[in-house]
Amino acid sequence: MLNPTGLIRGHYECRSFDQTIPILSDLLALEVVGENNSEKTLKHPNTDWRLVIHANGPDAPIKPMRNHYGVRVTNNAEVDRATEYLERKKGEFGIKIIKPRGNHNAYSVHFYEPGGNYWEIESYEHAVETGMGKTTNPHWAHPLPTEKFSGKGYVPQALTHGTLENEDLEASERFYREVLGLEVVKLWPSSCYIKHPATPWYVVCIQALKQNRQRLSRYQRFTLAVDSVDSVHDAYRSFETNRRAWKIKDLEKVEANGEDASFLFSDLNGNWWEITSEQR
Ligand SMILES: [Fe+2]
Repeated sequence: MLNPTGLIRGHYECRSFDQTIPILSDLLALEVVGENNSEKTLKHPNTDWRLVIHANGPDAPIKPMRNHYGVRVTNNAEVDRATEYLERKKGEFGIKIIKPRGNHNAYSVHFYEPGGNYWEIESYEHAVETGMGKTTNPHWAHPLPTEKFSGKGYVPQALTHGTLENEDLEASERFYREVLGLEVVKLWPSSCYIKHPATPWYVVCIQALKQNRQRLSRYQRFTLAVDSVDSVHDAYRSFETNRRAWKIKDLEKVEANGEDASFLFSDLNGNWWEITSEQR
C-alpha cells in the first residue's frame, strides 16, 4: 500500500490563462504562487493544496458539472450574496450561473467559467450539527481578512474539494483505501469522500450515471506525494506488477524532474492520478 505524505495538488485544464485566472482570482480568492512555461500554480491563502492550471487552447473540452472544484463560505446568506456578485460579473467574465440549491446539508451555487469548467461556492452552515463534521469541520484556522476580498458580500474561506465520477464506486473505495492509502469517509450510499488523513481537503467520488461517461484528461488529475524518489520507484513497480488486478487503465513511465521523480496513471475508472516525491 502507498503511504502518501499528502494529497498536495489538484490539476485543472482551461483554454487560456488570460481568460480563466482573473475569474479564479476575482470570484474565488485564488492567488498565483508559481509558474513555468506550460502551467501556473494557484493557491487559496487558507489552503495548502495547490491548483495547477494547464492552458490547452480553444479546443480544451468542457468538463461535466459532476467534475468540479469548490470553495466554502461561512454561511448560507453568503451563498446568496455570492450569487448576486456572480450576476454582476456575468457579462465581464462570460460565466453562466446555476441557481443556488441545497444538497446533503450543503447550500451552494455553481457557475461555469468559459475555460470549460464548473465551480461551486458552498456553505455547510448546518452540517456539523447533522453529523457531517468529519468532512465539514472548519477547513481554516483563521478567517481570511476581509480586506483580502472586500466589497463582494462573501469571502471564500478555503478551497475545499474536487470531484470525480466512478463507474464502480465500491471497488474504487477499496482501491483508494488499500492501494492509495487514503482515508475514505462514507456518508451516503452513492458517494464517498477521499482525503489524506492529515488534511481537511477532499475529493468527492460519486457514482457515475452512465458507463460511457466523458473521461477527464491527464490534465485534470490529483497528485499524491510520497516521501522519496525511491518510494516513487517502489510505487511504480507495484503498479506494474498489479496493473491487471487493480484494473489500472494507463501507466506512464517514471519521469525525473531535477532531484524529484513522478509518474502518472489512470485508475479503474479512467481517472488520472500522479505520484511524486515533491512535497508541495
Ligand atoms: Fe461540490
